Amino acid sequence: MRTASEHAKTIVKATAPVIEKHGVDITTAMYKRLFQNEDVKEMFDAAAQESGEQPRRLANAILAYSKNIDKLENLGPAVTRMVQRHVETGVKAEHYPYVAEALLPAIRDVLGAEVATDEVLAAWGEAYWMLADILIAAEAEAYAAAA
Ligand code: HEM
Repeated sequence: MRTASEHAKTIVKATAPVIEKHGVDITTAMYKRLFQNEDVKEMFDAAAQESGEQPRRLANAILAYSKNIDKLENLGPAVTRMVQRHVETGVKAEHYPYVAEALLPAIRDVLGAEVATDEVLAAWGEAYWMLADILIAAEAEAYAAAA
């Protein structure tokens, strides 16, 4: 399990207001990058993209995470819901790098290099992998239980 450093957590919490303001722009840009991979694109419900619903869900999840990164117990039900959808759609550990590689550049695209500095992106990278490892472990358990 990877954990974000205290420094990274501080930066992530401090960027919550910009995530609140620009979250949907970021996740919309992130899905545009992610869906360059056709196999990954097929995992998603097209209607939930076109209505903007899935970009909103992901933006809300990222915002809640940035606010609660030092009290993750607050995210319990949201994490359960993500794990459930991920297991239904066949998300596996090997998919997580694709989302990281789409999300971090999308943050920079939308916020610009002056706000999304290398330090900010590195902090979000640490935070991403901390949450990813929580999800990956819970999903592995759910797949094992279903087998
Ligand atoms: C830390 C990383 C991730 C976060 C925070 C995250 C978050 C979410 C959230 C909030 C939802 C919506 C759950 C709901 O229905 O309420 C969701 C659904 C979903 N996620 Fe993720 N996710 C992550 C990684 C991934 C990865 C790596 C993949 C695979 C490429 C993936 C594929 C999906 C799919 C296919 C759905 C269902 C969306 C639909 O209905 O079209 N996610 N995720």
